[in-house]
Amino acid sequence: MPPRFEPGLSRIALRRGDITTEASADAIVNAANRSLLGGGGVDGAIHRAAGPALLAECRLLGGCDTGDAKITGAGRLPVQHVIHTVGPVWRGGGHGEARLLESCYRRSVEVGAAAGCGVLAFPAISCGVYGYPLDAAARVAVEALAAALTLHVRVREARFWLFSEEAYAAFDRAVKELGATS
Ligand code: AR6
Repeated sequence: MPPRFEPGLSRIALRRGDITTEASADAIVNAANRSLLGGGGVDGAIHRAAGPALLAECRLLGGCDTGDAKITGAGRLPVQHVIHTVGPVWRGGGHGEARLLESCYRRSVEVGAAAGCGVLAFPAISCGVYGYPLDAAARVAVEALAAALTLHVRVREARFWLFSEEAYAAFDRAVKELGATS
């Protein structure tokens, strides 16, 4: 394959820890479910930190398709917006999971850019309850974000918050791999 130049890659940053401690981004991306009415994992943590105003806004959205993203305010969180996206449930890899996961990252950047966001904070979408294997998810995530950032220069940084050492290592490998081939 010919080398591909992806300038967006240099605008991806990795952090280790809890995404709800993010205070300098413009929006936090939530790994939600199609109801957008809350759940466990990072979704539960975001709703707990944001308080009931976030759920009240989500009720007005009428849910969200897998692979799509919708934006709200952020309640008590110290950012402007939450972007709710719905990752695919891992069903072995032959059910369009990669395409849908790529779409989550692309749509989140599109929605964030349209709202004027400069910095977006992302969790590892689909890597918890939804069971997407970490290394495969990390490659899709980093590649999709690098491409989306290249197109949307208004978003100057995408910052991953990785909850576990294992997740951090997988995303770090993916960034280095894509960097080596671009
Ligand atoms: N900050 C950053 N990452 C976190 C946090 C946190 N506070 N908490 C968990 N993670 P998951 P999914 C990591 O299960 O797989 C919900 O119930 C976690 O370790 O939150 O997309 C929704 O309502 C994992 O690496 O999301 C849906 O029903 C990653 O975030 C369903 O789970 C994603 O794990 C969505 O499943």
